Amino acid sequence: MKNSENKVVLITGASSGFGKLTAEKLLAAGGWEVYAASRRIEKMRGLEKKGARVIKMDVASSKEVNAGVGRIIREQGRIDALLSNAGYGTYGMIESVPLEEILHQYEVNVFGMARVLKAVLPRMRKQRSGRIVLTASMVSRISTLGLGWYASTKHAVRAMGIALRQEVKELGIDVVMIEPGAVKTGFDAVALGMLRRVKHPGDYKKYAKGFGRLLSDAYRRSPGPESTADCMVKAITAAKPKTVYKTTIDAKVIPRVLALITDKLFDRFVLSSVKKAAKKKNAG
Ligand SMILES: NC(=O)c1ccc[n+]([C@@H]2O[C@H](COP(=O)([O-])OP(=O)(O)OC[C@H]3O[C@@H](n4cnc5c(N)ncnc54)[C@H](OP(=O)(O)O)[C@@H]3O)[C@@H](O)[C@H]2O)c1
Repeated sequence: MKNSENKVVLITGASSGFGKLTAEKLLAAGGWEVYAASRRIEKMRGLEKKGARVIKMDVASSKEVNAGVGRIIREQGRIDALLSNAGYGTYGMIESVPLEEILHQYEVNVFGMARVLKAVLPRMRKQRSGRIVLTASMVSRISTLGLGWYASTKHAVRAMGIALRQEVKELGIDVVMIEPGAVKTGFDAVALGMLRRVKHPGDYKKYAKGFGRLLSDAYRRSPGPESTADCMVKAITAAKPKTVYKTTIDAKVIPRVLALITDKLFDRFVLSSVKKAAKKKNAG
């Protein structure tokens, strides 16, 4: 039932991690009709009990995206905010990741975002108001061996987001980007699982092994989703949001440090770290 007092938000990727926690925080704060979207609706039953409206949406399907957004407009007559957050990581060397997987990575992280934006923007333009929050990443600014395809999708998100921010600024729509570093959610299990499944030619094996160990280690030491979800809530609710929220220490520091060193020094650092990790005895 429509509650005209409340603002309306659509969150994609709401069955886990950042999206789920942000939905919980908005529901707890009150004043929001939260539409929680993802493929695994059974994982959103808890949100539903707290008052969210659940939508089964694979962002790789135009039909499901358009049906989901159509339902919100039918039920509420408006969409005040979008958190376009659905995504996952395909880890593996550039040559080794199968083409179908590269295409699917783009279908979800880039074209999925395009589908949701194209469904939501006409309504926001009509309203002359709206808030669009895009989950980018620290790797929208940097890249290393082993995460090139994933990082390339987040570079695409950042480039698209900057353009959109300028295009809709005078229409009353704010575009905000979220840049987390490594954070413990469901993300690492998917990305590292992918790395294990990819068949790497012998030439790349030591890199894949070292990269996997370094990343597993980074995720073991990484923070939980709290600070990122807090930034997402700010990005959705603040009267004057920042253009970008870097939500973890690594996301704040690493791109700045890398801007100070040469590409060749960066390459040497990455290769030596990865090879050292590959050789380490008793590593997990
Ligand atoms: N955690 C990190 O270290 C990190 C760092 C930087 C950026 N990010 C980005 O943060 C976003 C959220 O990830 P997370 O860390 O919260 O990971 P997560 O816990 O694995 O959550 C990912 C969410 O995306 C949804 N999703 C995946 N594929 C989808 C598809 N085809 N259609 C619709 N929804 C889909 C998943 O839902 P279903 O599987 O139920 O569909 C899930 O709700 C992603 O864009 C990720 O790239 C994560």
